[in-house]
Amino acid sequence: MAQPQSGPGTSRRSFLRNVGLTGGAGTMLATMGALGLAPTAEAAQREQPFRAPQPGDFTLTGRGAAKVVIVGGGIAGLASAYELGKAGYDCTVLEARGRTGGRNFTVRGGDATTDLHGTTQTARFSDGQYMNCGPARIPQWMITLDYCRELGVPIEVFTNVNADAYLFNESAGMKKPVRYRTAKADVYGYVSELLAKATDKGALDKELTATDRERLVEFLKDWGELGDKLTYEGGERRGYTTVPAAAGTPGVLLGDVPSASDVLASGVGRYFSFEFGFDQAMLMFQPVGGMDQIPRALTRAIGEHRIRTGAVVSKITDKGSGVSVTYTQGGRTKVIDADYCVGALPPNILARIPHNLGSGVQSALEAITPSSAAKIGLEYRSRWWELDHHIYGGITETDQDVTHIWHPSYGFHGARGVMIGYYNYGGDADSYAELTPKEREKRAVAAGVKIYGEKYRTELASSFSHHWRQTPHLEAAWHNTPGGPDDVRYKSLNEPTGRVYFAGDWLSYTDAWQHGAFTSARKAVTALHTRVLSA
Ligand code: ALA
Repeated sequence: MAQPQSGPGTSRRSFLRNVGLTGGAGTMLATMGALGLAPTAEAAQREQPFRAPQPGDFTLTGRGAAKVVIVGGGIAGLASAYELGKAGYDCTVLEARGRTGGRNFTVRGGDATTDLHGTTQTARFSDGQYMNCGPARIPQWMITLDYCRELGVPIEVFTNVNADAYLFNESAGMKKPVRYRTAKADVYGYVSELLAKATDKGALDKELTATDRERLVEFLKDWGELGDKLTYEGGERRGYTTVPAAAGTPGVLLGDVPSASDVLASGVGRYFSFEFGFDQAMLMFQPVGGMDQIPRALTRAIGEHRIRTGAVVSKITDKGSGVSVTYTQGGRTKVIDADYCVGALPPNILARIPHNLGSGVQSALEAITPSSAAKIGLEYRSRWWELDHHIYGGITETDQDVTHIWHPSYGFHGARGVMIGYYNYGGDADSYAELTPKEREKRAVAAGVKIYGEKYRTELASSFSHHWRQTPHLEAAWHNTPGGPDDVRYKSLNEPTGRVYFAGDWLSYTDAWQHGAFTSARKAVTALHTRVLSA
């Protein structure tokens, strides 16, 4: 068979092979970096490129894939095993819980949890219904979607913002909720009116030229739906009490346009910047059938035989020539020896595991503190929010202790559905955690009834509540890393201590996102693989 023509001079592959032979793997990696095939320190600062380890990386180096023990089967641990596995590393994942995924946790009917209070709950959701207790939305720019594509996990739109969802600030005197679209029309309308009038009266003459002012007023008239006199008087953006239909039914506009003062006093304006957030702007996505489709696919790709669940790590020892990890599984204490270790547990848990990695590691782990968050899933016998309120997905924002109420972004027009009755943090999450599951349900439903009416109570079939600070082996929803992940105090976590590497969303600039766990895992994998190639 004819060989493909490599053209004049040296083909790229043979060039790399020659460098590998004469300069060693370190030189080869540097050269690959220069060619854009492997990361260099400089390139990493620019764009953090990632090239997955490959079996071919070892060709002619005289080295082979190492044995790696990965402590923690959440997204960072699974991603580490998955990427290292591509080059043939012999990985073993130790996971304390009965399932992989960590905080990526989807609950369906029959699933049971026991929290640190000893309270056991079994979900009674019907077939096809689920709640994502942890991550539930994915922005388009996050590499979580790249992994969904690579792993064949189908995705669908997650409705993060909905013009027809509600805003409710009881403490500001609101007796009933207002639709997002109505509140937005009023806030944008009055802010535009005030700015347009100020501009018109010369208040911005120093800042703007006459042409600028003209353009600004033109923009504000459009943005705020202002009349010719630059006043906001409501309009169709606010919505209708009777929607436009056939000839003879032009529609009836929602009346009672509140005054500017009332709109400001209602405090609804504070909810609008959410959708501008780099990490929260629509479109957002979710895996079809539950967020745990991601760890499930990773688990399959890694191979279940490489993952030990119910394995609680009790000691990590760096022996200089390798790492020894002690764990208990099924009541028996076992030890696994490996060349390297990836510590992919939450820092608050890692800090409690005896190790010989030094006080720098310990104080770094202890500096990072855990945060609370909680959710309750409420399954309803009917999708009354679609039928009665015409709300399909999206989030209702409140000043209640439930904070956010989520309408499901799946199962539209189905018979039943699971609302998230609270997604709250900090003190609100902690105060609900102190209640029994039934009391949590009662309190969350009472808040929802104020917004949606009695069906919020009467249509309820069952509930399931989940609190991360009270979840064994995790004990955190996310973490606070003072000074940010590159602060000097975390040097011993970012640069491996001995043969132990660390990975997790808590070591990234996107804490509380799977993207943080994936990128942190990629960083650890790249560092480990580079070291193995040049050792
Ligand atoms: N990433 C989490 C969320 O979107 C905190 O709610």
